[in-house]
Amino acid sequence: MAMSVVPMHPVIGAEIKGVDLTKPVDQETQAKIRKAFEDHVVVVFRGQDLADGDQVRAGEIFGKVVLRERPPVGDLSTQGGNWDTPFMYVTNIVENGKSLGSFGDGEMWFHHDTSYYEEPHRATLLYSQKLTSWGGETCFANQYAAYDNIPRKLRDKLEGRKVLQMHDYKRRERLNLDVVDLAKVRHHVQPIFITHPATGRKSLYVSRLMTARIEGMPMAESEEILAQLFDISEDPSIVYEHKWKIGDLVCWDNWCSIHMRKDFPREEPRLMRRCTIVGQTMHF
Ligand code: OGA
Ligand code: MN
Repeated sequence: MAMSVVPMHPVIGAEIKGVDLTKPVDQETQAKIRKAFEDHVVVVFRGQDLADGDQVRAGEIFGKVVLRERPPVGDLSTQGGNWDTPFMYVTNIVENGKSLGSFGDGEMWFHHDTSYYEEPHRATLLYSQKLTSWGGETCFANQYAAYDNIPRKLRDKLEGRKVLQMHDYKRRERLNLDVVDLAKVRHHVQPIFITHPATGRKSLYVSRLMTARIEGMPMAESEEILAQLFDISEDPSIVYEHKWKIGDLVCWDNWCSIHMRKDFPREEPRLMRRCTIVGQTMHF
């Protein structure tokens, strides 16, 4: 069966049909997948029965798969410990009092993955293995469109500004710089608007979960502008909501989209196998 690309939303998300990721994908099809990824920001492969190696091979269509590094000593991370492998498990499952993976329960606010790294990951591939009876949808927002939607005057005012990105391992709480010890959490200053290295398009680069402040601005003004930008970044018109089925592999462009997770029942297990693609420095 030939590959086809079926858009699922006017500005973000497409399903790629007719590709079996348990087998190597030919070069021509790989190029089509990359094109769909550039055009649609999020691509979904349904009904895939993927072994570990299949997911890594699928990841390599998009770039170099990251090997997870152990977090620095003293890091506040509660993330589960499988290191030096490509995989992290996104799960609420706890065994013998220890989490099998990361990100635990419930809602998680909009964020970019690793925006607090010097070289944020290019993409993330999430593969669903256990799902709850309701909830747990993942929503993706197109940040090229968000950039285009910023009122002209505000955009001009913010051009060339930088933001502090950090992750204190909370999932649904505004960062509080009065409390957080920056020495203990990973953080990095990034352009407020980035030029996407692959497409050359401008993208808004803030998120409600991870952007702490606009640099060089009084805190009150920074909070006011960020509140406005968060609303623009999450505008329902630019969001695709993914309703998971077992065997979905979703790959998102982590430079020009943000994502969030909806609530789900705590007492039911949810398990996603996740790998990421090597990134690079973000520029204006
Ligand atoms: C992630 C993430 C959301 C989800 O893996 O980076 O944000 O739906 N996952 O579990
Ligand atoms: Mn994430």
